[in-house]
Amino acid sequence: MRTVQEQGHLFEEWLTPEQINSDVQLVADQINKDYEGKEPLFVVVLNGAFIFASDLLKKVKVHSEITFIRVSSYWGMASTGKLEFLVPLQQSVRGRDVVIVEDVVDTGLTIHQLKAHMRAEGATSVRVASMLFKPDKLEYNDAKPDYIGRSITNEFVIGYGLDLDGFMRNLDAIYKVKQ
Ligand code: IMP
Repeated sequence: MRTVQEQGHLFEEWLTPEQINSDVQLVADQINKDYEGKEPLFVVVLNGAFIFASDLLKKVKVHSEITFIRVSSYWGMASTGKLEFLVPLQQSVRGRDVVIVEDVVDTGLTIHQLKAHMRAEGATSVRVASMLFKPDKLEYNDAKPDYIGRSITNEFVIGYGLDLDGFMRNLDAIYKVKQ
């Protein structure tokens, strides 16, 4: 099993690139089915979701658009509880079927606030596709993702876009912190 070290923590490989690929394919299959004949707007949440979005959206076959938003609520390994819009929406969501693409839903604060924002901006529907979901940590019920790559227990993970203070996003697998 592969391991990496970052900031004094040891991380062990938890999802291999092959496992990730099949999880992402299952998410894409559901989206392809649900959005057939529609024209969704995918809103990718930077920075963490960029690798998941890249893999997922290559597998999505429906006629669609992709835009980006950048938010930040984390410092180190704990949420600050406050969402900052570092790069706001660049494209109108009015009248659109929006699919937010996220790396991980943890407390749900980010998605809770983003969904409210999209609805306030006039989106027709708002759904969420997240590579990972931590159900035990969810504090906002409306933030449960509609499409989930994999659910995990309450552990900190890195790789495949997920970072620890900006580092380790480029790992090709997802690693779990070893307690
Ligand atoms: P939430 O708002 O509490 O749901 O947190 C969502 C954001 O926190 C994600 O988009 C990530 O950027 C970050 N985050 C939550 N858990 C982890 C983790 O295990 N590793 C890296 N980032 C995480």
